[in-house]
Amino acid sequence: MANPKTQTLYPGKATGRPSKIAIIGAGAVGTATAYACAMRGDARDIVLYDINGSKASAEALDIAHGIQFTPCGSVEGSDDIEIIKGADLVIVTAGAKQKPGQSRLDLAESTINLMRKITPQICDVAPDAFQMYITNPVDVVTYAALKISGMPRNQVFGSGTVLDTSRLRYLVSKHTGVATQNIHAYIAGEHGDSEVALWSSAVIGNVPLRHWGLTVDGRLFDAELRDQIAEEVVNSAYKIIDGKGATDKAIGLAASSIAGAILRDENRVLSVCSLLEDWNGISDVVMAAPTLVDRNGAGRVLEPPLTLKERDGLNESAQRLRDAARALGL
Ligand code: 2OP
Repeated sequence: MANPKTQTLYPGKATGRPSKIAIIGAGAVGTATAYACAMRGDARDIVLYDINGSKASAEALDIAHGIQFTPCGSVEGSDDIEIIKGADLVIVTAGAKQKPGQSRLDLAESTINLMRKITPQICDVAPDAFQMYITNPVDVVTYAALKISGMPRNQVFGSGTVLDTSRLRYLVSKHTGVATQNIHAYIAGEHGDSEVALWSSAVIGNVPLRHWGLTVDGRLFDAELRDQIAEEVVNSAYKIIDGKGATDKAIGLAASSIAGAILRDENRVLSVCSLLEDWNGISDVVMAAPTLVDRNGAGRVLEPPLTLKERDGLNESAQRLRDAARALGL
C-alpha cells in the first residue's frame, strides 16, 4: 500500500495520456466539485465514485450532458472503485454531514473510521495519484490519511482553509470595493473554529491592509472591523448550514482551483493543509498555511511575518488539532 516514492510527475505532460480527476463521494460536495472541475476544464476525464452507484452514475450523467459547453472530455460515475484507476488526483469528499449546531471536529470519529476503509483502497487502485481530502474535520482527516497511506506529505494534503481564505477575501472586497483577486490575505490554522486570519501580512493591491484607511462606507478599517470580518468567516458555514443544510458550491470551486494548480502546474499560493514540519516552530500536525501548489502537489510552506497574537492563535489551533488526533489514537 505504501508508496515511498515522492510524486513528482506532471501527469498530463509526462505521460502523454489525458489527465484524470477522481472524486470519492457523490454527495453535494463531491457533485459540486465534479461540476466545478468540468466547467473549468481541470482534467480531461472526471469520475465520481460512490457506494451508491445509481446516485454516482446519475450525477455524472447530469454533468456529462453539458460537456459540450465545457473544456472537459468525459464525466462518469460508478460504485466500482476501479473507476479511479489512472487518476492523477483523487479528491475525497465522502463523510458524515455536519448537522446544525455541530462543529467540524464533532464529526471526527465516524469520519476517521471511514478513512481507514477508503484511503487504502485509493492507495491500491491509484497509487501514483495525489490525494486531496475535503471531508471534515479536514485537518484531522488528512493527518489520518497521511498515516494510513504512508505516502509523502506533498502527495497527501487537504483543502485546508482555501475556502475560508476566499470567504475572507470576499468580505474584505465588499468593505473596500477592491476585486477579490487583488486582495492578498490568508486564513491559516484549523479549517474551523480556531482558524486565524493573518491580518498583519494582508495586502490590498500593493497597500498593506493596516494602511488602507476608510471602507466604502466611510468606516475605518480598524481592529474592530478586522475582528468582525474574521468572526463572520468562522461563522459562514454555520450560517449556510442553518439556511440550506450544507455548503457545497464554493467548496467545489475551491477544490477545482486546487486541482487546477496541480494539473496545470500553476505554482499558486493556496492555504491547503499539509503536514507541518517546523513551520514557525509548529510540527507534527496537519493544518493550513499559505503553501506553494504545483505539479508536485503541496510544496513549500511560506513563512509570513506574524504578530504575537497570530503566532499564539496558530499554536493554539495546532494544539487543538493534535489533541483531536491523539484522542482518536492517531
Ligand atoms: C465549509 O466551511 C462545512 O467545511 C465546510 O463550508
